[in-house]
Amino acid sequence: LSRRRLLGTIGAAGAAIGATGGAVGTAVTRDTPVALSTVGSTAVPFHGKHQPGITVAPQACGHLIAFDLAPGADRKAAAALLRRWTGTAERLAAGRTTTDDTGIALDAGPSSLTVTFGFGRTFFDRTGLEKQRPASLDPLPDFSSDALDADRSNGDLWVRIGADDALVAFHALRALQKDAADTARVRWQMNGFNRSSGATAEPMTTRNLMGQVDGTRNPRPEDEDFDERIFVPDGGGAKDPAWMAGGSYAVVRRIRMLLDDWDGLSVGDQEQVIGRRKSDGSPLTGGSETTLPDLEARDADGRPVIAANAHARVAAPETNGGAAMLRRPFSFHDGYDEKGAPDAGLLFICWQADPLRGFVPVQRKLDRGDALSAFIRHEASGLYAVPGGCAPGEYVGQRLLE
Ligand code: HEM
Repeated sequence: LSRRRLLGTIGAAGAAIGATGGAVGTAVTRDTPVALSTVGSTAVPFHGKHQPGITVAPQACGHLIAFDLAPGADRKAAAALLRRWTGTAERLAAGRTTTDDTGIALDAGPSSLTVTFGFGRTFFDRTGLEKQRPASLDPLPDFSSDALDADRSNGDLWVRIGADDALVAFHALRALQKDAADTARVRWQMNGFNRSSGATAEPMTTRNLMGQVDGTRNPRPEDEDFDERIFVPDGGGAKDPAWMAGGSYAVVRRIRMLLDDWDGLSVGDQEQVIGRRKSDGSPLTGGSETTLPDLEARDADGRPVIAANAHARVAAPETNGGAAMLRRPFSFHDGYDEKGAPDAGLLFICWQADPLRGFVPVQRKLDRGDALSAFIRHEASGLYAVPGGCAPGEYVGQRLLE
């Protein structure tokens, strides 16, 4: 984008704002074609078999927001809200403005914006749809290391927003929250981030705030059993209602990292905790990031090279009867606590066709003996049924709500 064109763009946007007279609440629209960088111009299709935002590459900025239906808001009101939200998400994902646009993202393209909607367990009681509630929404078991804040957990409705631009992401958050109007009230909201696209010499797996390469052994869409592990099959799974076809279950955990304790370890000790090298994410048994770890390998003294309690061993499908999930977290940093420690960590989000064959068995095992447990604290939790995607003219959740 040349400076001349950039100035031309700003000028056009400024004229559009001026033309509305700047009146409070007046919608701002973009009617001038804009030449965008590749980051800005990338659009993720909104419509499809699955909702966007599940298999999408990790985006630089994320917002998670949960709502409770307002007293008196019934199934009809919820359906109208999902219809409004779908319309907004559709427009913004295509880089268009909304009907009452705030102008926050006016000069930017869609920037890989995705918006993903889910239903929490309590949604079904509030709307008289108990019979349609998936068994997979039964409450997660308690784990011994949980330190959960109820006010920042669960919720009737959940929305995940991701984009490669902070203003685009906030714009969507603000628009959806305004759409909720009198129908639903914000219960909790969290902000996260990942590395920006283009920050590294070549695209690579992102790092978390402990400095580890995180996401290496995620299932991949090209795996034969990917769909079976991550999405509810056509017609619904054995224990899923038909409206969940093409959907997935999201487990969300706000996991605080005790970074001062972690940073006190030597790099060698940090690597023992995970079972992988910090520099490049390769397993301690050798090779590159993508080499399979050799869980049987022993050192000269006969001790396992990847320790018995190393996170990557305890969490691996090979040691969990095949339990697998797609981990798509954001990092978070909410300032410093009263002791001066960073309130930072992982907004852990994992996707699976069945939480009892994904998150639950793995977290049970991690809870019993994961070397990482001493350096993290699970502070909030949510479990949501995320319906399949919709076609143009439909709204997300229509098969449940119509
Ligand atoms: C693997 C970090 C929490 C499940 C890994 C790896 C790292 C990591 C660095 C190795 C690279 C990779 O394959 O991605 C963390 C951190 C956590 C955390 C920092 C908390 C702050 C969790 C939780 C679960 C989980 C709560 C699920 C209950 C897994 C799984 C793997 C993995 C399934 C792949 C294991 C394999 O197939 O080899 N994690 N993790 N992690 N983690 Fe975590």
